[in-house]
Amino acid sequence: MTWLITGGAGYIGAHVVRAMTGAGERAVVYDDLSTGLADRVPDGVPLVVGSILDGERVAHALADHGVTGVVHLAAKKQVAESVSLPLHYYRENVEGLRVLLDAVTSAGVRSFVFSSSAAVYGMPDVDLVTEETPCAPMSPYGETKLAGEWLVRATGRTAGLSTACLRYFNVAGAARPDLADTGAFNLIPMIFEKLTDGMPPRVFGDGYPTPDGTCVRDYIHVVDLAEAHVAAAHALRSAPGRDLTLNIGRGEGVSVREVIDRVNALTGHDRPPVVAPPRPGDPARVVASADRAAAELGWKARHDIDDMITSAWAGWRRLHPSAARS
Ligand code: WQD
Repeated sequence: MTWLITGGAGYIGAHVVRAMTGAGERAVVYDDLSTGLADRVPDGVPLVVGSILDGERVAHALADHGVTGVVHLAAKKQVAESVSLPLHYYRENVEGLRVLLDAVTSAGVRSFVFSSSAAVYGMPDVDLVTEETPCAPMSPYGETKLAGEWLVRATGRTAGLSTACLRYFNVAGAARPDLADTGAFNLIPMIFEKLTDGMPPRVFGDGYPTPDGTCVRDYIHVVDLAEAHVAAAHALRSAPGRDLTLNIGRGEGVSVREVIDRVNALTGHDRPPVVAPPRPGDPARVVASADRAAAELGWKARHDIDDMITSAWAGWRRLHPSAARS
């Protein structure tokens, strides 16, 4: 099969492309390079530069490369930014998806894997989040991911498309230093940023109803996440008309304070955090039940939080050579 991987020049996309080609699939990357990097696309994988809002360009890419499956990763994904730019997020993440699905169904593509998010759950008040946990997104970003799932499932039902909506939990780590996330919009790189500046990491609130008072999240290594896409792609290919919605997490919670302690230990620093005001809208605990992904895909995460921190730190050091010990 030939898979069009939108957003394949991004941090997660680059890992998905390598996992797919490593599994013997043919891949074509479609990316507008607004945040993606062309040199993340491996040799031998065609890169089509364009916006998913450009339906004609998408249609040509699907036809020119004989695409039979799509993995859709291209999206805006910063929660805080989505609050200040909701229309931009709805245009890129929902209208862009609609244009893509229009081209996909016209081209007779049979399989569609969609990058969704744990953000669709909002503030779930459960120990482990299952796919049946009610969705109540707290940000325009989360809303666009839930609306995206509705679009994908509705199109799948009417167009005979096999679909998989993968709800990513907190993604971290890197397969190689040069594939690491270049942004600092999530906990682990934000800790690195503080340590690099010789400052203490910040804990956004320590009064939550959790064992140490700090927020608990389910961190998933990007390599495990990429392998989940391969497993989903194979599951869709083998069962036409399938409609999967799956949590992609480890099923284990780690608190902010625990992450900071591990980062200090693994990077040779010794900088206790300072407590900052809680971030509005932050749920105390969001941890996946990954049972359905195991049952439906035979997939289970293999890497732990130390693997994520160590690999992310190697990537951070590559871009910030001055990131020495405190
Ligand atoms: C994690 C925890 C912060 C920085 C993410 C994103 C998105 C989505 C869902 C895929 C929170 C705390 C952070 C810092 C801190 N994934 N924190 N000090 O908010 O769980 O959501 O996961 O779509 O990636 O929406 O991730 O990394 O922003 O924060 O205390 O310097 O770390 O308050 O509790 P979050 P995050």
